[in-house]
Amino acid sequence: MDSTTDTSTIDQPGDGAKEAPLLSPPIAAAKVASERTIDGAAAGDDPDRGRSKDRHSMSSSHSGSIHSQPTSILMPAEVPREPTGSTIIEPDSVFDDSGRSFHGYKEGKYFLPNDAAEQDRLDLQHAMLMMATGGKLAHAPMDHDPEYVMDVATGTGIWAIQFGTVTRPAAQEHPGSHVIGTDLSKIQPALPMVQNCEFVKDDAEEEWLYRTPETGSAGKVLFDYVHLRMVFTCFADNLVVMRHAFDNMRPGGWIEYCDLYIDPLSRTGRHEGSTVQKFWATFRKGMSKIGRDMLCPRNYKAWLAESSTSKSKSTTAPSPTGRRTPSQKRLGQYALVNLTEGARGFSWKALGFAGLSADEKETLIAELRRDAGDPSLEIFHPV
Ligand SMILES: C[S@@+](CC[C@H](N)C(=O)[O-])C[C@H]1O[C@@H](n2cnc3c(N)ncnc32)[C@H](O)[C@@H]1O
Repeated sequence: MDSTTDTSTIDQPGDGAKEAPLLSPPIAAAKVASERTIDGAAAGDDPDRGRSKDRHSMSSSHSGSIHSQPTSILMPAEVPREPTGSTIIEPDSVFDDSGRSFHGYKEGKYFLPNDAAEQDRLDLQHAMLMMATGGKLAHAPMDHDPEYVMDVATGTGIWAIQFGTVTRPAAQEHPGSHVIGTDLSKIQPALPMVQNCEFVKDDAEEEWLYRTPETGSAGKVLFDYVHLRMVFTCFADNLVVMRHAFDNMRPGGWIEYCDLYIDPLSRTGRHEGSTVQKFWATFRKGMSKIGRDMLCPRNYKAWLAESSTSKSKSTTAPSPTGRRTPSQKRLGQYALVNLTEGARGFSWKALGFAGLSADEKETLIAELRRDAGDPSLEIFHPV
């Protein structure tokens, strides 16, 4: 398929659970004490294990550690929440004036929070993206289970965990795969039932240096499948990350991007002049001030083609923010909650880069929350 608009997947959420042939038992990557520490997600593991050994690890900064949250700020509405036990607090996180916490390791490199509210949003977004893309974790046309899988910028690790292990009770989705998820924040759970999934606190823009007993100290892991999802806000240089993916790929491997196009669209044009359009334009303007192109997903296909002589496929599905047809209602509701509940956290820094004061940010976000659910707008964002 060549840049087609495929809306058929929208009406088939949950379909497409992959029946993969079993491969050999999972191969445990070594916890090598060389360049990186690979933190295992196996039973009984201490989720903090390895952090102090991380060569890049930084302690809290001038912005204040998680243990010293400033008390003068108002508590944002999205922060207080019933703990589910499934979110991870990153001890070296730092706070900003929004009251949200951010990664402390390589502080200032990424502009969205890492706290419980953001972790909830990421998991909701995962559900939304699964609906928008036909219920499939992977779309690369692999004819066998990839042995080594890299999930770049894994977030809560929800994709990596589901890909590596269980998508349905008592069923192993990819038991022959070993999945490594990397992130600036170590916010992924250590799940006893997940034996073939590991998480590493690492910057994907740095050289990838993962080793196994098989490769020994001399060789790096070569990945059969590199997955990048919702990374358009992440990197100072997307091409560096793409280059790492190619350089660390086994011949015949696949790279898969799944990302969002944030400029809102509508078939009727009613989105023109809406608060939703104004919000995203301001967000984009702020990020462009610091050199980040929030519409970078439109370049992925060309960049991939330039970097490789191999095949490239692309599919687009719309993710509606409003509530239109019954089949899209649930997806639209998830997208709406993702936007309205998440906006304050994910846009605070970007709106600041655009020059908005704290009051102006609060006003724009309040207007967004008021207007975004208007079904007459019929807004959607291509995924
Ligand atoms: C929007 S979240 C997406 C999470 C996940 N891929 C998903 O789809 O659920 C982006 C994640 O990228 C991480 N990130 C940002 N810059 C990064 C970098 N340079 N290296 C590794 N992770 C990074 C952030 O910490 C955050 O968890």
